[in-house]
Amino acid sequence: MFAARLSSQTDWDGWRGTTRRLMTLGIAPGDVAWAVGGERHGGLFDVHDLPPPPPGPEPEFRVPRAFIPLAETVILHRDSQRFALLHALLLRLQEEPRLLEVASDPDVARLAAMAKSVRRDQHKMKAFVRFREIADDGGERFVSWFEPEHHIVEATAPFFQRRFAAMRFTILTPDRCADWDGRTMRFGPGVAKDQAPDEDRLEEAWRVYYAAIFNPARLKVAAMRSEMPVKYWRNLPEAPLIPVLIASSQARTDTMIDKAPTDARPNRQRAEPAAPSLLPMAGTIEALKAEAAGCRACPLWAPATQTVFGEGPAGARVVFVGEQPGDKEDLAGRPFVGPAGQLFDRALAELGVDRLKVYVTNAVKHFKFEPRGKLRLHKTPAAGEVRACRPWLEQELALIRPDLVVAMGATAVTSLFGKSMPIGKTRGAVIDLDAGTKALVTVHPSYLLRVEDAYKAQEYARFLDDLRLALPFLADARKAA
Ligand code: URA
Ligand code: SF4
Repeated sequence: MFAARLSSQTDWDGWRGTTRRLMTLGIAPGDVAWAVGGERHGGLFDVHDLPPPPPGPEPEFRVPRAFIPLAETVILHRDSQRFALLHALLLRLQEEPRLLEVASDPDVARLAAMAKSVRRDQHKMKAFVRFREIADDGGERFVSWFEPEHHIVEATAPFFQRRFAAMRFTILTPDRCADWDGRTMRFGPGVAKDQAPDEDRLEEAWRVYYAAIFNPARLKVAAMRSEMPVKYWRNLPEAPLIPVLIASSQARTDTMIDKAPTDARPNRQRAEPAAPSLLPMAGTIEALKAEAAGCRACPLWAPATQTVFGEGPAGARVVFVGEQPGDKEDLAGRPFVGPAGQLFDRALAELGVDRLKVYVTNAVKHFKFEPRGKLRLHKTPAAGEVRACRPWLEQELALIRPDLVVAMGATAVTSLFGKSMPIGKTRGAVIDLDAGTKALVTVHPSYLLRVEDAYKAQEYARFLDDLRLALPFLADARKAA
């Protein structure tokens, strides 16, 4: 057995360098014991240091482009075998360069599932982190507690940094803690789960923790300690003072909700618990859009041109939700500008509605297609893709807080209600989406393009009838007749 050591759980550079050396030396994945930080090599007697690399030029290894993002994500997984699994996959790729395209291959499938689990966890962190305000000598600070499933704190912290750039905040987790002082992001060791002080001592304890961990003079020590195995953390002198904020304690978050500059309200309850809403803190639609431009939460981003985000005024009373951008939208970067969009525009115009006064978006923000010669043929997004993209829609709705959401087509319905519902039976009436928001279900405009000629006029008229139900919500958006 050979020992391979990484400096932290997410030491990507370390893994790359070590794996390269293992491959140069011809050491098989099964002969490597990986350890992180000061961790011992799991009680193995027969563990040797890696021999030096052989003399001569380093051999070239084949690293397909798609391997990098996969490995960068998988390395955040909590499974301690991930280092060896990635090593094994990279070895196989030397002989089978197109292996990553074989989704049914057990190794590929396993790593893809791991990456998916990591991405889901990142989504969850973005959605579930709730802050509580704490006053300290620097002014106000927001603190939250979150328990990630994987090692995602460092990778996900930039999301919060961009989103809450103007706030000072700290996210405490059992793995790592992230602290943003308005200028610099710092990471410190995690907080043991059982260290929760009671409500009264929360602030005081947090201050002690903060002083101990984020005092720059101690940062090095803190960083070193952070690499210690979990079981040693409780021996740290400051451990008993380390606070945690329990995510379920809604009362703690209320202050922050009240503080939100955009008249935000707490998350909406939706049918499916797996799809949490994100609190629209300092958020604006523009900021959200910028965020979504870099979204990689499902595979659809890769072949598409760009994220097509919703469009319209943040104060819109009515939000229209379609399925996903089409070919034209993908190229233009704007929703509903292609053939379906033109039909939609025509319907709005006939009802006297100014499109610029409503908000138009999609359940899925990237174009899913199948190349066919020069054409890119629309493909219906899979349930997992709709689910992955739902936080974006939820955040749009949470920011806009429309009075009415119009779901156009089955995908929009699934995303909004968290389950599929027959459009034929649901259309034609304003229903409740959740407290304070109504919903209206109708067909997707592209259905009107596809339907047989004999039914076109009739179906279009029905679509108009449905949309007419939105008019009472659209008083401001109607043109003076
Ligand atoms: N279809 C949609 O659902 N959305 C668009 O943006 C365009 C076509
Ligand atoms: Fe992200 Fe949605 Fe695009 Fe998937 S489709 S990458 S979830 S924006």
